[in-house]
Amino acid sequence: MKKIIVFSDIHLNSADEPSLKKSSQKLEKAILHLQGNHNDFDTLVFTGDLADSGKIEEYSALRNLVSVINRPIKFMLGNHDNRKNFLDVFPYYQPDHNGFLQSSEAYENLDFIFLDTLKDPHNDIPKSCGYLCEKRLDWLSQKLKEADHKKVILFMHHPAFTTGMQAMDLLRLKNSHDFFSTIKNFNNVNHLISGHIHRSMCGLYEGYNFSTFKSINQQMVLKFKADRVEYAKGENSGYGIILLDGKNYTIHNEEVN
Ligand SMILES: [Fe+2]
Ligand SMILES: [Fe+2]
Repeated sequence: MKKIIVFSDIHLNSADEPSLKKSSQKLEKAILHLQGNHNDFDTLVFTGDLADSGKIEEYSALRNLVSVINRPIKFMLGNHDNRKNFLDVFPYYQPDHNGFLQSSEAYENLDFIFLDTLKDPHNDIPKSCGYLCEKRLDWLSQKLKEADHKKVILFMHHPAFTTGMQAMDLLRLKNSHDFFSTIKNFNNVNHLISGHIHRSMCGLYEGYNFSTFKSINQQMVLKFKADRVEYAKGENSGYGIILLDGKNYTIHNEEVN
């Protein structure tokens, strides 16, 4: 049995903001909860929006906060991140041959693939949207080809699926059509996991199961028709737990309180 933990959208704020303390305290609390309740985990995945403003000092704060974790950590990038600043602070995280923070992990019966949906520069699409350029989609095709008959769980900060929340659906992966055209060339993608939504939900889209998890930092109010995103006050943080058991897996939502 393997236990994979998913921390979403920690949004560490800039060191010159008083809220850094608040965001770092929330991450510390989640790490303590993890260590107190599920300390036999194998890997901790952060699904992006690591640093609220993509600043060096935010990534330095992150490096200090995760130094207590003695298990493998997989970092992904979101629309709030800055690829260069992240790699400056975490030089041992190697990008792919095109410079994107994409990677894969092979488990006994499943492959995990982690995509980089950060659009930088983002001048031709809204800043909060995600994008997968041709190079990243080619890389994905190669990985899916290598996975062959093995089932794949795909991680990406921006959802390619819609959620029914109007404001968030405008801010998903901008070229989701290209993404689905790519993965439909293979029949091994089993599940899509995203950050960005700051809520736990699951569903089926274009024939693919998907899941999202609560944010470690702040939760989004569930308003389907709102034009703008609104954050909840006082809602508990949470994280995801994926249990791999042979060819089966279960996905859990844990609360931090
Ligand atoms: Fe976020
Ligand atoms: Fe995001």
